[in-house]
Amino acid sequence: MAKTLQELIQKLHEIFKDDRVNVEEVQELMESYKSNRKDWEKYAIFDAHKYTRNLVDEGNGKFNLIILCWGEGHGSSIHDHSNSHCFMKMLQGELKETLFDWPKGEDEMTEKSHRMLENNSVAYINDSIGLHRVENVSHTEGSISLHLYSPPFQTCQVFDQRTSHKSVAKMTFWSKYGERTPCETSASKENN
Ligand SMILES: [Fe+2]
Repeated sequence: MAKTLQELIQKLHEIFKDDRVNVEEVQELMESYKSNRKDWEKYAIFDAHKYTRNLVDEGNGKFNLIILCWGEGHGSSIHDHSNSHCFMKMLQGELKETLFDWPKGEDEMTEKSHRMLENNSVAYINDSIGLHRVENVSHTEGSISLHLYSPPFQTCQVFDQRTSHKSVAKMTFWSKYGERTPCETSASKENN
């Protein structure tokens, strides 16, 4: 049970000392934390044009903990998770998660299922489950989610829904430890 984000981070460090990840244990721990704005507001830096990725903790090299801020209508591409575990906990608002199978040819990718992730819930995905797209479909409220990736990764693959064409996207951070990172000159596609 984690009462604060700080406590959650401490307990995640403990769990990830072990090289084998127990998905249920991590999911339950992340669910036990009830979102409190004071804990994470310094990381919650929005941009008007696209969702942002804000680094919270590097998990001793075992995981990355990242806060994503989704303005109204902001969404990701369809993407994979580079053979890592991906946990996603809602801190504010809701997000729509749409699942896809890995494409086999060059056809349009069809939705497998979708669901709304409610505040404080924790979703899990990895490459064997499939691919997903994440969107804030609200027209009135920003959404904030806390993501844990283990092991950490620097690039993932993104997919064009109409053609199944894939390309590599680099992970970038809008802020690190609550400090805005210098602007990137290249416009990279961001995901997760
Ligand atoms: Fe993702």
